[in-house]
Amino acid sequence: MKRKQIFISILLLVSLSLSACAGAATPTQAPAAPTAAAEQPTEKPAGGGKLEVFSWWTSGGEAAALEALFTQFKKYNPTAEIINATIAGGGGSNARAVLQTRLAGGDPPDTWQIHPGFELLGQYVASGYVDPITDLYKSEGWDKVMPAGLIEQMTKDGQIYGVLAGVHRGNGLWYNKKVLDAQGITVGATMSVDEFFQIANKLIAADITPLCVGDTGIWASAQLFENTLLGVIGPEKYKGLWDGSVAFDSPEVKSAMETYGKMLDYQNSDHSALSWDQAIKKLMEGTCVFSSMGDWAYGEFVKAQLKDNVDFGWVSHPGSAGSFMIVADGFVMAKNAPDKDNNTLFLKAIGSKEGQEAFNPLKGSIPARTDVDRAKFGVYHNWSMDSFAKDALVPSVVHGSAAPADFQQALNDAVTSFVVDKNVDAFAAALVKAAQDSGFAK
Ligand code: BGC
Repeated sequence: MKRKQIFISILLLVSLSLSACAGAATPTQAPAAPTAAAEQPTEKPAGGGKLEVFSWWTSGGEAAALEALFTQFKKYNPTAEIINATIAGGGGSNARAVLQTRLAGGDPPDTWQIHPGFELLGQYVASGYVDPITDLYKSEGWDKVMPAGLIEQMTKDGQIYGVLAGVHRGNGLWYNKKVLDAQGITVGATMSVDEFFQIANKLIAADITPLCVGDTGIWASAQLFENTLLGVIGPEKYKGLWDGSVAFDSPEVKSAMETYGKMLDYQNSDHSALSWDQAIKKLMEGTCVFSSMGDWAYGEFVKAQLKDNVDFGWVSHPGSAGSFMIVADGFVMAKNAPDKDNNTLFLKAIGSKEGQEAFNPLKGSIPARTDVDRAKFGVYHNWSMDSFAKDALVPSVVHGSAAPADFQQALNDAVTSFVVDKNVDAFAAALVKAAQDSGFAK
């Protein structure tokens, strides 16, 4: 698929009406633990063989959620040997390079983690590393229960190449509620950029670090920028960046860069020594207060058995209420997969209602399926499902969907420089050039 066509797919994604998970009332209880009583697959269990699953899910919450997928797969094949091939590094910062080496060397795992859009279509489908799974959409009825806009992001020439385990909301601002309560600070239903700085200044006055960042993988700081960009310029202009109608050196983008630079002044001094989940741990401990992070952070709170709206809280990243930054996670069928039969069962387990209901409460994402039982999900997930149903849906560049890999890399490089020199003109010029090199600037 040509880049232009992929960009058109991105626009389709954001313009199609995605009515996932809308409807039921929001419960107030904590998320229900996945039950062992989920339906068993109807077909006779297969036996033996291997299944190698490649991902970067190594944090406490990520590993627990991945294990839940394995448990679902074992219902289909209790005796298969599962090879859990993980490479640590949030956002796939290390894993994607290792995977490329394996794929180029003809040594594919059976399946691996993908983001729809450019990452799947540009890096894996275009290179011929994956087989279509369109027949599974028909046999499993996924074509009727997965949002068309997301399927479109995984489709080339009428063939579908991935199945989604869940959909993360990237633009969350998480906070330690007990620390804020002790300071007499209340966070409302939304937060503006100005409100963020007012609260941050109060915290500084009380000798408390406002912002928790862990950017050993620079993507975490790039995500702080991505969320701030969305919050400052709004979803329509944010979308315009990816079709070339908004320039990276326009005054509003530069203003977002200024705001991002200002935010960096409030982060923990050890940010570059920490991973994203170590930063969330600091938030839990109360040595810093806010973290701008996708809702895989929620998985860490679940793993630590913290309580929603008691120990921790959330709000959209400042200024970004009304938008849902999509970071969807899917899995594929490798071409020449060592064990296609087991992988078919694994993909079926992922796309099943039971699989989605078991995995997502632990991972923090919402199910991609539209027919799950909302009562099985807690207050955060219902909040996020409502946001997905009614808000502007925008693609993440930091997590591979909005732009080609060369732009994603150039953004990370530009962020690496900016956190040191805070030079807005240089930052803007680097992104203008990257968009031109990548072929989507007008
Ligand atoms: C993935 C999430 C993952 C996060 C941090 C994102 O790119 O989509 O599943 O939890 O990175 O590792």
